[in-house]
Amino acid sequence: METKKLSDRFSGKDRESMSNLGFNAMTLFMKLMDIVGGHSRKNFQSLGLKAGQTVIDYGCGPARYIGFASNAVGEKGKVFAVDIHPLAIAKVKEKIEKLSLTNVEAVFAENYTTPLNSETADVVYALDMFHMVEKPEDFLNELSRLVKKEGVIIIEDGHQPRTTTIQKIEQSGCLKIIQETKSHIKCQK
Ligand SMILES: C[S@@+](CC[C@H](N)C(=O)[O-])C[C@H]1O[C@@H](n2cnc3c(N)ncnc32)[C@H](O)[C@@H]1O
Repeated sequence: METKKLSDRFSGKDRESMSNLGFNAMTLFMKLMDIVGGHSRKNFQSLGLKAGQTVIDYGCGPARYIGFASNAVGEKGKVFAVDIHPLAIAKVKEKIEKLSLTNVEAVFAENYTTPLNSETADVVYALDMFHMVEKPEDFLNELSRLVKKEGVIIIEDGHQPRTTTIQKIEQSGCLKIIQETKSHIKCQK
């Protein structure tokens, strides 16, 4: 049995749909991590996004990556920030407004269904959220639908061991692992 950290239980990070209180606690916790250690900036740099790409930040949460992503893909690129939590969608909209981001769009998803066309993205990244997904097979099939043929899906282990992440990807049968780094797994379909 996997042991869950107390901070995860408090923030609700180990469940797919969080309470508003859990979401706000998580947002605060992440803000502190960014102030203290610059976590999201460092993590984002390792994704290797390029100008002109269309990218999907799947499970974007409090939108801490969208400013970096918007900047990286530039005015010819596009960022879709997807989440199932209404507070995440509100955060994305707030950040779009605050930072005047013209290439970012908030997308509300439900039941592993995203209102975006198939083969939309050059890169789909799902950071610190795969451990929360209750139906990994449905989820990965949806990511596979959204990425272009030569595109890349980047999955972060989050709060689960690497072996669990790999097992879920292999069981889905829809993705092949092309690269592993310390915190991410890159896949293609
Ligand atoms: C721990 S937060 C991480 C947020 C962000 N990716 C980051 O690293 O800062 C996880 C987010 O994933 C979202 N989430 C969980 N399951 C999801 C699903 N099936 N589809 C889309 N979003 C999901 C949650 O609502 C939450 O906002």
